[in-house]
Amino acid sequence: MEGKRNPDQAIALILERKSVRSFTGEAVARADLETLMKAGMAAPSARNRQPWEFVAVTDRPTLDLLADGLPYAKMLYQAGAAIVVCAVVEKAHDRLPEYAVIDTCAATENILLAAEALGLGAVWTALYPRTERMEYARRVLRIPDSVLPLCAIPIGCPTGEDRPKDKFRRENIHWETW
Ligand SMILES: Cc1cc2nc3c(=O)[nH]c(=O)nc-3n(C[C@H](O)[C@H](O)[C@H](O)COP(=O)(O)O)c2cc1C
Repeated sequence: MEGKRNPDQAIALILERKSVRSFTGEAVARADLETLMKAGMAAPSARNRQPWEFVAVTDRPTLDLLADGLPYAKMLYQAGAAIVVCAVVEKAHDRLPEYAVIDTCAATENILLAAEALGLGAVWTALYPRTERMEYARRVLRIPDSVLPLCAIPIGCPTGEDRPKDKFRRENIHWETW
């Protein structure tokens, strides 16, 4: 079964992923949001601690309230939904916040790739490490103080304006030694 997977398709998906900030305003199906969070939970994590939890937001006033207070996430006004990815430090390997953050970054990238696969648009908007943004998200979404809200991912149907960037730089690769 595994050998039958088309590697070209998987690589093409990775190369096609881009930050989408222009949305049509259509709603996002709950089943799609679940698929995205399932993809997030499939990420690797230190000692397999899976130190993440997610807040899925579809309620229009809440999306707007998040947009009001997050200066670099104004696309939430047009997004049909958002997933706020949270790092739960007490679940992390050795309870280290660094592991909690690293692991939830991996989960976030999985969500972004899964969104691309579903034909949805998404963009990582930073909460962590900006304390004022984390505080704001905590307040709006009633996230406990012990939890680090890592990022808010606005999700929606893309208008098609956003395109992937070619970031391949041969000079960034070192073979055998630096
Ligand atoms: C840690 C992190 C924080 C980011 N924060 C924001 C943000 O607050 N707002 C935003 O519009 N994009 C944000 N981005 C998206 C980047 O701007 C984007 O990934 C980068 O420009 C490369 O473009 P691409 O995602 O289309 O490849 C963030 C990305 C990362 C990884």
